[in-house]
Amino acid sequence: MTPPSRQPARRRTAVLATVPVAVAALLGATAPTAGGTAGAPGAGDPYFPLSGNGGYDVRHYDLTLGYDTGSRRLDGTAVLTARATRELTRFDLDLKGLTVTAVTVDRTGASFRRDGQELVVTPRHILRTGRTFRVTVAYHGTPKPVTDPDGSADGWIPTDDGAFVAGEPQGAMTWFPVNGHPKDKAAYDFTLTVPKGRTAVANGVLLGQHTAHGRTTFRWRQTRPMAAYLATATIGRFRVERYTTRDGIQVYNAVDAREARAAAPVLKQLPAVLAWESKLFGPYPFRAAGAVVDHAPDVGYALETQTRPLYDSAPDLDTLVHESAHQWFGDSVTLTAWKDIWLNEGFATYAEWLYTEQHGGRSAQRTFDALYTRPASDGLWAYPPGDPGSGARIFGTPVYARGAMALHELRRAVGDRDFFRILRAWATGHRGGHGTTAQFARLAEKTSGKQLDGLLHTWLYTPGKPDRP
Ligand code: ARG
Ligand code: ZN
Repeated sequence: MTPPSRQPARRRTAVLATVPVAVAALLGATAPTAGGTAGAPGAGDPYFPLSGNGGYDVRHYDLTLGYDTGSRRLDGTAVLTARATRELTRFDLDLKGLTVTAVTVDRTGASFRRDGQELVVTPRHILRTGRTFRVTVAYHGTPKPVTDPDGSADGWIPTDDGAFVAGEPQGAMTWFPVNGHPKDKAAYDFTLTVPKGRTAVANGVLLGQHTAHGRTTFRWRQTRPMAAYLATATIGRFRVERYTTRDGIQVYNAVDAREARAAAPVLKQLPAVLAWESKLFGPYPFRAAGAVVDHAPDVGYALETQTRPLYDSAPDLDTLVHESAHQWFGDSVTLTAWKDIWLNEGFATYAEWLYTEQHGGRSAQRTFDALYTRPASDGLWAYPPGDPGSGARIFGTPVYARGAMALHELRRAVGDRDFFRILRAWATGHRGGHGTTAQFARLAEKTSGKQLDGLLHTWLYTPGKPDRP
């Protein structure tokens, strides 16, 4: 096993698209207008300046979607319940492609226009700060994925029997109007209607399903806060398996028949993996779990969709451990900026090393050593993981492997007892919320009573191969 195993299988050398940088978005600023302000078109993340929006905070998404797997047409109604964080004369949602036919705010028709990936909504009345409002967007069309800077497809990705629906980092906007930045987490309800014989799988708990007139509707609910990139509505011909674990977690697995044989022995390990991770990281953060194992050979990656990771083919055990670990690191404790991506990928990768170490395989130290022998010219050392830069770098080897190495060095510096106390305190203290690298560093120092900024600075922010520890 050559870590990290979780990178997109096919790394394509992508021609870097020039991202139009909206200065207002970069600054998280708002343009003043008469008698109020317009919400910013971005959430202020320099990696994805137009992802997310300013001026409001979504509490809940209610997505009612119909998908025709033959024509690939999507019909959607999205109802967003949000709170104005400032006085708003207008605000943006992210939506890429698709046709919007109507927008209402609190049941009153609102005017709207499209501007690239922004859906700009002007409500009839100004929204006062602190006010909760409801936006309804009716839309339809043929959703298409976006191509990320690393060349991967992201968003609604059609397959031969439905769609593989992933969203990291920016694909949510390809299938619903969204405040598409992980800073804004919300609860979700999904009502998904697909041709009879297909299954539509989203996050959380299945509330019910019924078939009428040749179509089946699935109702899913995710009550715990979720970042938009972790939402899914994956559709296919799936074999479904349901059970409840000893810890009371409701498992729902959906597996493409073509992957079933290879997937079965790995999926059987899911309860044990979750139990092992709960022992290490604290209680599993959700009520539901499971997997969607699709047959989507063009995708090239798996995603830790909340409660129910999404695999483009039968995963190996390392991948299952990795995506499961993300349920704590990434899903429950979420980034506030994409530059902190190592808090997701470094942790999930280190979980693989720990799993191997504690299940009769090689020690994390040996995994570290094997990576450390790579020469200074190796891609592993091409850039430090703490602020990798936008473009193709956020899912690169340094983020996964050197990010995990940083954790291993931290472990060596503070000792096992404090290291595992730090991991657990991180997962439990920020459960359901957010965390930054600076907060993690402070927690590590507080827990261990050691000065760690030198070590973290070397491993996270210093270019080049660090000197032998
Ligand atoms: N977070 C995913 C993982 O578990 C990788 C997602 C890659 N996404 C992409 N658009 N390349 O490692
Ligand atoms: Zn990952």
